[in-house]
Amino acid sequence: MARPHVEFVQSQSVEWQDAGDGTAVKRLNIDPDNGDGTVLRRYPAGSGRAPQPRAGLSLEFYVLDGEIAIDGRVLGAHAYGYRPAGTPALTWQTSAGALVLEIGEARPVPAGQDDPAILLDCLALPWDVSTYDPQLRHMHNARKVLRLGPGDSGRTFLLAGLPHGFPSTPDLPLERHPHGEEMFLIQGEMKSPQGVMRDGAYFYRPPGIWHGLHVSEFGFLMLMRSPGANKISTQWSEARHPVQYRPAFDPVLPEGAPAAWGRPHAARPTY
Ligand SMILES: [Fe+2]
Repeated sequence: MARPHVEFVQSQSVEWQDAGDGTAVKRLNIDPDNGDGTVLRRYPAGSGRAPQPRAGLSLEFYVLDGEIAIDGRVLGAHAYGYRPAGTPALTWQTSAGALVLEIGEARPVPAGQDDPAILLDCLALPWDVSTYDPQLRHMHNARKVLRLGPGDSGRTFLLAGLPHGFPSTPDLPLERHPHGEEMFLIQGEMKSPQGVMRDGAYFYRPPGIWHGLHVSEFGFLMLMRSPGANKISTQWSEARHPVQYRPAFDPVLPEGAPAAWGRPHAARPTY
């Protein structure tokens, strides 16, 4: 088994569980064989517990809320870190509590290549707007690469898109990749054939699955990963499909997913 396809779940629909170490977790996507995968973790005020991957595993984290002194450096929302397997635990102290997205996963690194630890304040990084895929130009994307692993151990990046991200054509091709894709929607909105993703939406898509098309009315900021590939390679379908401006909620969920995952999440009133 491997990590299952989920596309998508609103993390608001996922139950908090006691992790047994003073923190609480929402398990968003887990490999049933070894328990590795992606969780939201809530650190209570005063917690000094550092993220701890299983032995032999590396870990990425992205701070969504709160403030944490990490190795003595005080960081808040939009801090990103990567800890390769075998690195000593960070010192980690949060006085007021924090909400953190954590991804524990094997990331194969070719022998002899460096796989450095990373700690970034993403707010301070510049946006890169030079890499628009012509088929995605309608979303006016910008990117911040956070980690580009050695070999094909994966790329992690922030992706942002402008509001009014609709194509000038009424239809678009679908896409698929020889690698997986994982996404957490930090803020914003994106429409897909599975419904309207909003703040807190999450998907994990294994390799080889046709997907899209995606458009955005209000813009978005998302954390994305391409497990197993450093460069995203995309095959576009010959057939074109109509843009859906009001897609109904119709998610792909793992077998045995709680019923709440399949119930539409009400958007917060905005005005
Ligand atoms: Fe994709």
